[in-house]
Amino acid sequence: MARNKLLKRRETLMAHIEWDESFSVFDHDLDKQHKEWILIFNTMHSELSQGNTEELNNLATNALQKMQKYADYHFKFEEDKMRKNNFPDLIAHHRMHKDFNSLIYEYIRDIRQGTIVLNTRVLKMIKNWLVDHILIEDKKYAQFMTDPKKNFLKQPISK
Ligand SMILES: [Fe+2]
Ligand SMILES: [Fe+2]
Repeated sequence: MARNKLLKRRETLMAHIEWDESFSVFDHDLDKQHKEWILIFNTMHSELSQGNTEELNNLATNALQKMQKYADYHFKFEEDKMRKNNFPDLIAHHRMHKDFNSLIYEYIRDIRQGTIVLNTRVLKMIKNWLVDHILIEDKKYAQFMTDPKKNFLKQPISK
């Protein structure tokens, strides 16, 4: 997706993320998991907009832990699929998944230590990461899977 188009899409996105066909990576299981991941984000967003300040930190920690747990499950599943299909950018992709895990881990730690509160800026960063990752990075896998040349890569090199 062109950068301008992506920025525009980010701007027009309301606080919640709406899954539509443009998010599809043409894989039923992965699309289903991305929808679930988005749902977890949307629920987290709603909960945190309603919570009062006293309970906000607890709510935030629980919501982030849920997000971390699901992302972990999804990343393993996705990477497994990529490995089975010989996706050439698996290592770089795995690194991005790890970065997300670290980001969420740091938010949880900082909230517990009281150095940050889960505010709209933090939620926006998580949202942008999630949306950009599916629309740009996971899409690269989708493109690879529809590339007719990919089967060539799977064949053993003949002597
Ligand atoms: Fe991914
Ligand atoms: Fe994904």
